[in-house]
Amino acid sequence: MNKKRVLSGIRANGRLHLGNYLGAVKGMLELQNNLEYETFSIPRGNDLLRQLKTNQYDLFYMVADLHSINVPYNPKGFQQAVREVVLDYLAAGLDPQKCTLFIQSHVPEHVELSYLFSTTVTVARMLHLPTYKEKVKQHPENVNMALLYYPVLMAADILAYKSNLVPVGDDQLPHLEVAREIARKMNDTYGLDFPEPEQFKTKGSRVPSLTGEGKMSKSVEGSYINLTDDIKTIKKKLAAVPTDSGQGEKVPETGGVAALLQLVELFQGFAKKEEYERQYVASGVQYRVLKEELTEAIYKELEPIQERRSELEKDKGKVDRIIEEGAKKAREVASQTLQEVKLAMGLIMIH
Ligand code: TRP
Repeated sequence: MNKKRVLSGIRANGRLHLGNYLGAVKGMLELQNNLEYETFSIPRGNDLLRQLKTNQYDLFYMVADLHSINVPYNPKGFQQAVREVVLDYLAAGLDPQKCTLFIQSHVPEHVELSYLFSTTVTVARMLHLPTYKEKVKQHPENVNMALLYYPVLMAADILAYKSNLVPVGDDQLPHLEVAREIARKMNDTYGLDFPEPEQFKTKGSRVPSLTGEGKMSKSVEGSYINLTDDIKTIKKKLAAVPTDSGQGEKVPETGGVAALLQLVELFQGFAKKEEYERQYVASGVQYRVLKEELTEAIYKELEPIQERRSELEKDKGKVDRIIEEGAKKAREVASQTLQEVKLAMGLIMIH
């Protein structure tokens, strides 16, 4: 069976929160645990069929540390920040036996490849990307070259592994399009064989912000619950979600109440949410009870993750080995691709 290559990355600009977990990491887990029976026959005239459980995907998951330093950041705490994301990944259930887990900068081939790719990309094309324009608005005093370069490096991340599928949110689609263009251009110009990578839509869910506006985000204070929050912290954060009198003609579709109901659906199921909706238009919702039960439900999901995390925190050597091993496995593939590209571009001699 021809396995599909998958690559995905998360930036290290903060700890993982519920939004990343349900939106991205759960999708990564879904792919990791996607086991299929593969049937094959044993040769030598014997048509005995054997079945083997294998994953149909070859997975590369990385912490995109190089993509995190194009905005103001703290170099002193950065090593720790990157490591925390690895711990969060592992605690959430990513298994280094089943996927290659690594840190982007540990595979320097990405950077070298991205420079080679940049020769096929126009500056005008990069200037027009919505993600770039957004960053320019956010940090007008810090419009650096790395921001402009962002999609080229991301293309290198993906194409270094000749990845077919990229599990990312729709906000990353313009970047994926750049990677596809680069793949095409490299193939046409230099006769290479890059696949055109496609978005892989996982079952990830959109998690609402606790402020009642938009989605849960690291960059919005008071909007998120961290994977490491204890039950008291979750309770406090939910207590701060703005509500109303609990009763009305129509269940609100925006704001704090809507956010709470979406969280109820995510953690307690659709039926529970419907129950509250019926209460809202009839006798009224008691938010104290709702928030208490929701706190319990969220904590129940996070508790095993936190337990695994504290185990991992005790074993520094194990995490170091996982990171080292991941880089080694990733480099084997990425250096092969880089070699092919350099050869095709006339940068090295054919022996
Ligand atoms: N740009 C992605 C984000 O902000 C992170 C990322 C970097 C990535 N390199 C990648 C995602 C390669 C998928 C593939 O979420």
